[in-house]
Amino acid sequence: MATKWKHFSKVTCVRQLPNNKPKLHIVLQRDNRTEQKEHQQTCALMETLISSTTLQLRNPQTSLFPKTSHFNSPAFSRVQFSSKPCFGVLNRCNKNCFKVFAASQSAPAEVSTSSSSIPSTMKAWIYSEYGGVEVLKFDESVAVPEISDDQVLVKVVAAALNPVDFKRRLGKFKATDSPLPTVPGYDVAGVVVKVGSQVKNLKEGDEVYGDISEKALDGPKQFGSLAEYTAVEEKLLALKPKNIDFAQAASLPLAIETANEGLERAGFSAGKSILVLGGAGGVGSLVIQLAKHVFGASKIAATSSTGKLELLKSLGADLAIDYTKENFEDLPEKFDVVYDTVGQGDKAVKAVKEGGSVVVLTGAVEPPGFRFVVTSTGEALTKLNPFLESGKVKPVIDPKGPFPFSQVTEAFSYLETNRATGKVVIHPIP
Ligand SMILES: NC(=O)c1ccc[n+]([C@@H]2O[C@H](COP(=O)([O-])OP(=O)(O)OC[C@H]3O[C@@H](n4cnc5c(N)ncnc54)[C@H](OP(=O)(O)O)[C@@H]3O)[C@@H](O)[C@H]2O)c1
Repeated sequence: MATKWKHFSKVTCVRQLPNNKPKLHIVLQRDNRTEQKEHQQTCALMETLISSTTLQLRNPQTSLFPKTSHFNSPAFSRVQFSSKPCFGVLNRCNKNCFKVFAASQSAPAEVSTSSSSIPSTMKAWIYSEYGGVEVLKFDESVAVPEISDDQVLVKVVAAALNPVDFKRRLGKFKATDSPLPTVPGYDVAGVVVKVGSQVKNLKEGDEVYGDISEKALDGPKQFGSLAEYTAVEEKLLALKPKNIDFAQAASLPLAIETANEGLERAGFSAGKSILVLGGAGGVGSLVIQLAKHVFGASKIAATSSTGKLELLKSLGADLAIDYTKENFEDLPEKFDVVYDTVGQGDKAVKAVKEGGSVVVLTGAVEPPGFRFVVTSTGEALTKLNPFLESGKVKPVIDPKGPFPFSQVTEAFSYLETNRATGKVVIHPIP
């Protein structure tokens, strides 16, 4: 039998099934030199070829190849994958071409990789000098970071930007920054592909998310999350809630940890009232939700411009204040806690009750206000996971995104307008 198969297996498209499960469409193409084989011969050949071959199916979400997925009981009309959650149907579509339709019933079960498939270099965004977005360069041959004993290597599926990324790039934290050149990015969601010898709880194939730099300003990671791979301490990561996708997960870590830490430091608790300045931003949108669903606020007020007032209400604000029309500091009502994400510390202290707390994330601080810099910890994410899994707390992704990896400079420029709604996310990352 002389028939040759030019492209033995080739994924030509990835589609979503109506039930939201990924669908792989594979074309097995016969070499043009061998025309018009008998139908029976072709069927027999197909069966032989498929049964003796391992098909590498690339997971559409993670871009990873599973370790073992092959057709092991080929029938012309129905083909079974060896890994349990998959099934496929093989159809002949014309005389030279066969299609295999395969649907994974459980996408995460398909995600696995081996450390042997980790390349030595990767694509990443990098800068070698401080400055505007123009210093950001796309580099296809950045060394994949080595992991230490307490770290895991994460194949990055999605990342998110934070104002600290551009403030750092502008050189505002030179004194305590890591050396240049640096790959920016704190927030990551991805898949563990390698674990260090002291790693206890995570394993290859785990889907994780986190803020990869324990201290945002004090020696942040030199090789951040805007890359195909990043090395992260196990303690900074948590398992990704199964009900949210990688882009949503990447939108959370630094912002939700900041929201949570600020509320804890302010001693916020059930029955207290809060005013959130900048309620539509990355941090503010989560402060509103955590105050309501995690801490049990009695009343939530928040500020934004006119077009975002409805969003504030949908997140849980009882009172949405349009800062273009009203001065919150002139309102007669005062609050137990004022959480300032904007840099209005002088006005914030006028809106707090006697004995209350004022959390200030940026700008000048006046008593009784206090400022802090977030500490990344996977524990906080693990504590908050049930609220994400129940859908009470929802990731808020700016509708202009997610931005593909090729558009990181556009994403930065947008974030730097200070008008983003929720989080600016980068996805997919190849
Ligand atoms: N200390 C820390 O640990 C820490 C941690 C995280 C963030 N931060 C800092 O906190 C700040 C906020 O971070 P972020 O990620 O939330 O930023 P962000 O998402 O970029 O904030 C953008 C939002 O700010 C709102 N905004 C701008 N001016 C406003 C005003 N005068 N009143 C009310 N809302 C206003 C905008 O809404 P409109 O379009 O409606 O104006 C927009 O939705 C940044 O300076 C960041 O560096 C500090």
